[in-house]
Formats: sequence, structure tokens, C-alpha cells
Amino acid sequence: MSVISPVQIQPRVSDFISRPRKMMINGQWVDSISGKTFPTYDPSNGKVLAQVAEGAAEDINLAVNAARKAFEQGKWRRMTASERGRLIWKLADLLEQNLEEFAQLESLDNGKPLTVARVADVPLAVDLFRYMAGWTTKIEGNTIPISPKGGQYFAYTLREPVGVVGQIIPWNFPLLMAAWKLGPALAAGCTVVLKPAEQTPLTALRLGELIQEAGFPEGVVNIVPGYGETAGAALAANPDVDKIAFTGSTEVGKLIVKAATGNLKKVSLELGGKSPNVVFKDADLKTAIPGAASAIFFNHGQCCCAGSRLYVEKDIYDEVVAGVSEQASKIKLGPGLDPETQMGPLVSDEQLNRVCSYLESGAQEGAQAKVGGKRHGSEGYFVEPTVLVNTNEKMKVVSEEIFGPVVAAIPFEKTDDLVRRANDNIYGLAAAVWTRDIGKAHTTAAQLRAGTVWINCYNVFDAALPFGGYKQSGWGREMGHDVLEMYTETKAVCARIA
Ligand code: NAI
Ligand code: MG
Repeated sequence: MSVISPVQIQPRVSDFISRPRKMMINGQWVDSISGKTFPTYDPSNGKVLAQVAEGAAEDINLAVNAARKAFEQGKWRRMTASERGRLIWKLADLLEQNLEEFAQLESLDNGKPLTVARVADVPLAVDLFRYMAGWTTKIEGNTIPISPKGGQYFAYTLREPVGVVGQIIPWNFPLLMAAWKLGPALAAGCTVVLKPAEQTPLTALRLGELIQEAGFPEGVVNIVPGYGETAGAALAANPDVDKIAFTGSTEVGKLIVKAATGNLKKVSLELGGKSPNVVFKDADLKTAIPGAASAIFFNHGQCCCAGSRLYVEKDIYDEVVAGVSEQASKIKLGPGLDPETQMGPLVSDEQLNRVCSYLESGAQEGAQAKVGGKRHGSEGYFVEPTVLVNTNEKMKVVSEEIFGPVVAAIPFEKTDDLVRRANDNIYGLAAAVWTRDIGKAHTTAAQLRAGTVWINCYNVFDAALPFGGYKQSGWGREMGHDVLEMYTETKAVCARIA
């Protein structure tokens, strides 16, 4: 038991989870057409936390129709860019005012420490909305000098919203992923059907209430919780959806692409990773060791960009492995709401089994756990922070995404060889380099095939910095101004003036 007094759950939070949650379609909170609900669980003990309306294809159709109507007619279309920006900013303000409530809901539903949700998930979502609010008035076209013979022309481009957008998000950062998706879509003037992950629907549904409170016109944002194979698949295949944005597994990303072929809707994907985190022998180990530990253990390793392949230059390999293992062994596991908890449970039974089966496969292939290596306790979905040695790139634990608190430490000798091995993976989401040699830092960053390269840091995110993957880590970029390209179409207007 914790010696620090336990967190008082806000009455609003207990009230929110005490009743079955409905879905938001066309500005109304409604039950699913089937009347079915599904449970969401508290991953620290496996008990049912709340019941949620279970959306399926027919609910998705209603939501898409509402989004279509809101896109084609009504207030949203007539709204000025500045008014749209003000609404998004207001949503950010409301979220900030309710920070503690959202942090508690997120911690309960996902399992992450409340202390983390308070300083990372919720404030980053607030920032994202504010950043995107600023973009509404800056989405501009160009005037283009064109040279056809026999006339004078005036030509320009417009950047118009792509239309009705379907967004399918995962459970590792439930609220933040909703913000990453909704922010740019709304800034661009699109309308949205959002499907949260079945493991963690609660903060997205609460966000829906704030979207109404902020004054967004009905139908602009619709939120339909439900399972991937039913609600998610229906959204990806719906012929009236102009664009689908997905974050999740590479496997499902490929299904989304196939489902999108029916009407050739635009697709953006943010998928898996197996990111190399490289420590050179001239690195400042006082920062590199805790940095390497947090690169993998932050959010229990449930990050698409987790630094799960730790490449360490041979001379310092033992020292770095010992240091990261020591950090791992000190991490205090517990329920997210316990103020002493540094790492919570994995999100679900399914993820617990997936991660444990990787640990078994690693052991069978000859990897050795310096620390950790198994489930923690028998209640809830906890896994011990684990550092694997005696690993090589042929092992599944080194080549495949585990999505848990498990890092494979691998020694290297020559930089050329390191770069080849770091890039020898189907993913290319993120990478990091730790060194005091500025030249080496930037030349290595240039050679790594990854959408993000951190130098002497890890997991630094900003609403202004684009994020996304090379290779099978995805298509397109989230955040920054790059993301707006995924939510706009360019229209060329060409006028004969003489
Ligand atoms: P998933 O890819 O199945 O789920 C992500 C989202 O996609 C959820 O909202 C889910 O309902 C939806 N979905 C699932 N099947 C679908 C389908 N056929 N059509 C449309 N939507 C569908 O991921 P899952 O099963 O939760 O986790 C499996 C693995 O995926 C993890 O172990 C991890 O390796 C990876 N993953 C990667 C994430 C990332 O941030 N890139 C996030 C979550 C999982
Ligand atoms: Mg799945």
C-alpha cells in the first residue's frame, strides 16, 4: 500500500463511469441501434469500469450521414476561418479547465499513471488544439503565373477541406490521439466521424461533451465507440467518407488500405515501429542511460516510437546495460491512481498475453533477461520492465514490435554496420542518437531511415513538429503544418481575363 494518500476520484469521474455512455451522432447522445453495450476495463485489476454503447455498421452510417450533412450545408460551411479557430481554441480552454478530470478518466481506462496523464496526455492535447486553432486562418493557396498562348489568364490555388473524414484511433494515448486527429481535421474545415479504441473510449466521449459545450455545430464531430472489426471496418469501407486517418497496428493499417479502395478515399496511417536507439561511446552516459530507460519504459513501452532496439557501442555496452537495468529494477509498478506508481499495467488482457508470448519466444531463442522477463503479480495486466541481452536481429524480440516494457540491447562496433542494422527492419518511425560529437550526430541522423530522429533526447513531441513513418510505419505526417496537407485538397482555378 502507498504511504502517500491515495487520489480522491472526482465525483464527476465516478458519475461519468457509473452510467452507460452513449455515442454522439449529429449533436445528440444516442444508444446504439442494436441497443448493445460493451465493457471497458480497469487494467489494474481486470474489473469492468464502465459500459459503453457498441457502435456497428448501421451507427457508423448514421454518423457518416450526419457528418456529410454538416459538411455540405449549415453553419460549419458558412463559418469564417477565424470563427472556426476560436471554437477550437475554446475547446482547448475547456479541456484545460477539466484537466484533472480527464487525467483521472485516462488513468482509470488506460492504466497509465495519473501523474503522467496530468503532465503529458492532457496538456499535450490542449497544446495541439491551440496550435491547430492558429492554423485555421493560415491555410492559403498561391497565385500562379501561367503562360498559355493567345490570351491572358489569372490563376490561383485554393486549399479546401477534403470533406468527411473517418478517424480510427488506438488506446495507448486515447485523448491525445483524438486531439492529433480532430485538431487538423477541424482546422481544415472537415467534418469527422471518430472511432475510439474499444479498450479506452471514455476520454473521447467526455471530449464530445466539451465539443458541444464549445459550440461546434451539430454533426461536425460524431463519436462512435465500438470494435475494430465491426465499427472500424465499416468506417474504413464507407463510400461516403472522403478520407480515413488511422493509428494502430501495421496489420490493420493494411486492411484499412484495402477497405479504402472501394471509393479510393484518401488514407493516412500512423503504424508500428521498432525504433533503434543508438548510444555511442562518447555519449554523456549520465543522460543517455536514463534517456534509454525512459525511451522504452515510458507509457509501459506502449508507444509506437518506443526505443525498443538499444544499440550500444561495444566499449560501453556492459556499463549501459547495467545502468538501464538498474533503472528498470527501480521502477515502481502499481495502479495508475496510486501516487507512487511509476509504471501501470498494460492496457488489456490481450496485450499482456501478447507481450508475455514475446518474452517466452525471446527466452526460447536464447535471449537473456538482465532484469524483468515476466508478468508482475497475478492481478491486473502488469509486466516487469525488462532488459534483454544476448540478442540478435534474427530474433522476433529484436525484429518485431512488442509494444510493452521490453528492450533488446545489442552491441555494435562500426558506425556503417550500425546504420545498416538499425535500418534493417520493416519499420521506420523513429530513432535516436546519443553522442557528444555534433558531426557524428547529424551524419547518423541523416542515414537513419526514420520519420523522427532524436539527438541526445527521446520522446520529445510538439504540436509543431511533424511525426510519422518511413516504410511500413505509415503514410503521411501528423502535427506540424504537414498534417494539413492530409486534410485539404488543392483546387487550381484558372480564369481567362483578356
Ligand atoms: P489495432 O490496430 O487492432 O487497433 C487500433 C484501432 O484500430 C482500434 O480503434 C481498433 O478498434 C481499430 N481496428 C481494429 N481492427 C480494425 C479493422 N479491421 N478495421 C478498422 N479498424 C480496426 O491494434 P491492437 O489490436 O489494439 O494492438 C495490436 C498491436 O498493434 C499492438 O501490440 C501494437 O504492436 C500495435 N499498435 C500500434 C499503435 C500505434 O500507436 N502505432 C497503437 C496500438 C497498437
Ligand atoms: Mg487488433
